[in-house]
Amino acid sequence: MNSFDTVLEQFINDLNNNFVADIYANIPSGKRLRPKLIFNIIKNEQSIKLAAIIELIHISSLLHDDVIDDALTRRNENSINNTYGNKTAIMLGDILYSKAFYELTAFDTKIAKIVSKAVSTLSIGELEDVKLAEFFNTDKELYLSMIYKKTASLIEASTHAGAILAGHDENIYKTYGKNLGVAFQIIDDILDITENSQTLGKPALNDFKEGKVTLPYLIAYEKSSFNTQEKLKSMYKRVLNKEESTWVKELLNNTNAIKDSYNYAKTLANQALTGIKEPKLQEIISSILDRDF
Ligand code: IPE
Ligand code: IPE
Ligand code: MG
Ligand code: MG
Repeated sequence: MNSFDTVLEQFINDLNNNFVADIYANIPSGKRLRPKLIFNIIKNEQSIKLAAIIELIHISSLLHDDVIDDALTRRNENSINNTYGNKTAIMLGDILYSKAFYELTAFDTKIAKIVSKAVSTLSIGELEDVKLAEFFNTDKELYLSMIYKKTASLIEASTHAGAILAGHDENIYKTYGKNLGVAFQIIDDILDITENSQTLGKPALNDFKEGKVTLPYLIAYEKSSFNTQEKLKSMYKRVLNKEESTWVKELLNNTNAIKDSYNYAKTLANQALTGIKEPKLQEIISSILDRDF
């Protein structure tokens, strides 16, 4: 049985292009959450291939995401758009997405549909994220629906497809992936505020600057007086000086917005566990809540 890394490497070699292989070699590995989830549901030849396909899709989404978010670092290195430019990052994303779809054709139609549909949903979520960043959004439902699409949909597809390969109850694992995925993105949005760029391996305090009113900001806004709301709005979508970013962070702490967001993620994470027996899948939930990157 070939290892996950061997399969992924083979996918890249199949593309038979030195430039692609060279750029790809400059992408460090991430946390590999989605493969980890799949392997804790089932590990066999098929699931390794499925996990490699999903990781390729995930990498593609990050290549495009860093262009969208003007992010110059990723996984503690310069992002591909930073090193090679946006055009290369976009095309490498397209190359890896289409390679993933090509490999998906070897799977049962049901699995191929679940995964490819998740990629449409993810992309619609990224588009909604772009649209929501055009104004100061104060609608929590719009935010939650957007993060389900951009992040949870692929995680949901991973655990759903894994359950099918394992012959397990589809709904239990699908729900697990969905709730875990939304919680995962909320934590990601909290870490953007509470951690520094070095720990994150990607830009910190970047969301608000990019126009993204994430859950902590939504809660802080909701709980603030008119004057504070106006002051927060005046800091939206711009580079903040030290004093301003301290003010924002204090507001997010004093209104309990960070804590409330964390508890929201925790509630979802607990809901994810309904019917899940694997201790490892329970551990992953805790590690997601407690992570700092
Ligand atoms: C980053 O995903 C994008 C989000 C969905 C928050 P990960 O945090 O899984 O990224 P890597 O693969 O570990 O770098
Ligand atoms: C995560 O986007 C979703 C996808 C990449 C599809 P974000 O922009 O929230 O994630 P980070 O913080 O850059 O990893
Ligand atoms: Mg981003
Ligand atoms: Mg983004």
